[in-house]
Amino acid sequence: MKIVVIGGGSSYTPELVGGILEHHRSFPVSQICLVDVTDGAAKQEAVAGFCRRMIRKAGLEGKISLTATLDRRAALPGAAFVISQFRAGGMAAREKDELLPLPHGIVGQETTGPGGFAAALRHIPAALELAADMERLCPEAFLINFTNPSGIVTEALQRRSRVKCIGLCNIPLTMQRVLAAILNVAPERLELAFTGLNHLSFVTRVLLDGRDVTAEILSAPETALFWIGDFPEIGLEEARHLLRALGALPSPYLLYYYFPRQTFAAAKRRAEEGKNRAREVMAIEEELFQLYRDPQVDEKPALLSRRGGAFYSEAAVSLMRALCGGGPARQVLNVQNGSAIPDLPPEAVIETNCLIEGGAIRPFSPGPLPAAFRGLVQQVKAYEQLTVEAAVKGDKGAAYLALLNHPLVGGADRVRALLDNILRENAPWLPQFG
Ligand code: G6P
Repeated sequence: MKIVVIGGGSSYTPELVGGILEHHRSFPVSQICLVDVTDGAAKQEAVAGFCRRMIRKAGLEGKISLTATLDRRAALPGAAFVISQFRAGGMAAREKDELLPLPHGIVGQETTGPGGFAAALRHIPAALELAADMERLCPEAFLINFTNPSGIVTEALQRRSRVKCIGLCNIPLTMQRVLAAILNVAPERLELAFTGLNHLSFVTRVLLDGRDVTAEILSAPETALFWIGDFPEIGLEEARHLLRALGALPSPYLLYYYFPRQTFAAAKRRAEEGKNRAREVMAIEEELFQLYRDPQVDEKPALLSRRGGAFYSEAAVSLMRALCGGGPARQVLNVQNGSAIPDLPPEAVIETNCLIEGGAIRPFSPGPLPAAFRGLVQQVKAYEQLTVEAAVKGDKGAAYLALLNHPLVGGADRVRALLDNILRENAPWLPQFG
């Protein structure tokens, strides 16, 4: 069993390898091949050396080989799974995504709003090139996409290539863990029903051993406290009121939509203090890579848990294991809608509970979207579809309409200047726009 990791030099890779080692008995991977671009070569070497030490420490040397290359086409043949987790332009491009919208009066975020839009324009063409190589070199392999914005990139892949692609995110697993901690029960006892889109999902029902505890969860102050996270600008009572009124627990990314003024104020305050998440991550990574390069270190550093991707290896390994015949299994995935959510187009990629059985994936239908958030989800899906069109064709008209439709942009008067700025700042990664 061969797994190819695109973006192998990511500081997250040891998290993935750790998950593979932990589950090696039930999911016997024999080859892991890391692939990166020239700019990521040094990081990838450090990651590869460290991961080999992890393999040795786990007593699996000789059973799992780990290689690293800059030649994607040489890596793909024979792959059963290709995991995509690349970031075009690295953290510097992410920092721009987070800062660029602020002077336009809009929050800057890695996956949401204009920042996520810019990342989608950079990542979709590269993801489609990867898919084209896979069609030729490993047409049977599954592509598991973590590349952000994961839902939008997955929709581009689903619609524009023949590869078997599934989008994955760690937020559903994280939410399950957090709610289990609030109820003080083991996470396996909870069943959560998700509907919506990636980073725009809603938990509409929580079952504890089959008993409906949704109302209890929605009114618990701890739930609101978790939800507002590190935005002290958002009032706890306001958040509690909102959760009860919605009758569902939104992903924390919905804070940007429900509290646009407060989240913008927070981002602006942080920027004025010289802070942003990209910069924080760069500082964490500097320390992480020092550890990865240290020949004495052979265990996943605790510092890695300060990245946002908790449980990402668990999500990936359970999906791969289920697809290899370990099913039937249930997991929250990003898949093509079909008729699962009747309020969204059939070709749209949605994030919802799925059944994985016999190598196939089927979404459980969450039914129509509640009126409480139907309009928001439909509007963001329109933005996402226009973004895919813009990214694939280099179509400035579609790009304009995408931003115009984004609920966080808030007015046509902002769109042209914002778009010009995004295209100018990202020009090296946007050949499709000439
Ligand atoms: C969560 C999201 C990912 C995102 C990550 C950011 O895991 O689901 O899409 O990339 O957080 O974490 P970071 O440590 O890079 O800020």
